[in-house]
Amino acid sequence: MTVYNKKGWVAVGAVLLLGTLAGCGDPFNHSLPGEPATVYLSDAGGGGDEGGAVSYGTAYAILNDNCSFCHNESGAAAGTKLHVTSDSAADYAAIAALVDVENPDNSKLIKKPTGQASHGGGSILKADSAETATIRAWIAAGAHNN
Ligand code: HEC
Repeated sequence: MTVYNKKGWVAVGAVLLLGTLAGCGDPFNHSLPGEPATVYLSDAGGGGDEGGAVSYGTAYAILNDNCSFCHNESGAAAGTKLHVTSDSAADYAAIAALVDVENPDNSKLIKKPTGQASHGGGSILKADSAETATIRAWIAAGAHNN
């Protein structure tokens, strides 16, 4: 029988999610040649370990690619604090409020999409992916609007 009434948005979300995953290449193998997902870590004198500086713009691009279709004004996550509208400056304050610079892995911005906290959108990013590492590095560097 039809499940659209109660679970319609879940089904739509799942379809959109699959579409996004397909559109982003294979998220479970981020070492494919030609894969657009990239480690954006740039070395700002930190020695190349965890000290690489990641700008807000770089982290935002990942959110824009992976989160915006639910986290926008009319998406499944419209009622949440996270809005990714393509206007990084306008979205900054809300995004910065979802991070813990003292303990980046404790950030909602990381725990939710990696499935380490319950998330209406499910697991969007793998915890050990390049995308998650980039977002974490931006947070660890102070989550500045840079
Ligand atoms: C398929 C839809 C979908 C996608 C894609 C999605 N989310 Fe969500 N997200 C939700 C829904 C629905 C909620 C509200 C329920 C909840 O809090 O889990 C939510 C809530 C959140 C919250 C809590 C915001 C608050 O108000 O406290 C955060 C943080 C979050 N998501 C992060 C992300 C990040 C980061 C991404 C991308 C990497 C992402 N989400 C992608 C659907 C999605």
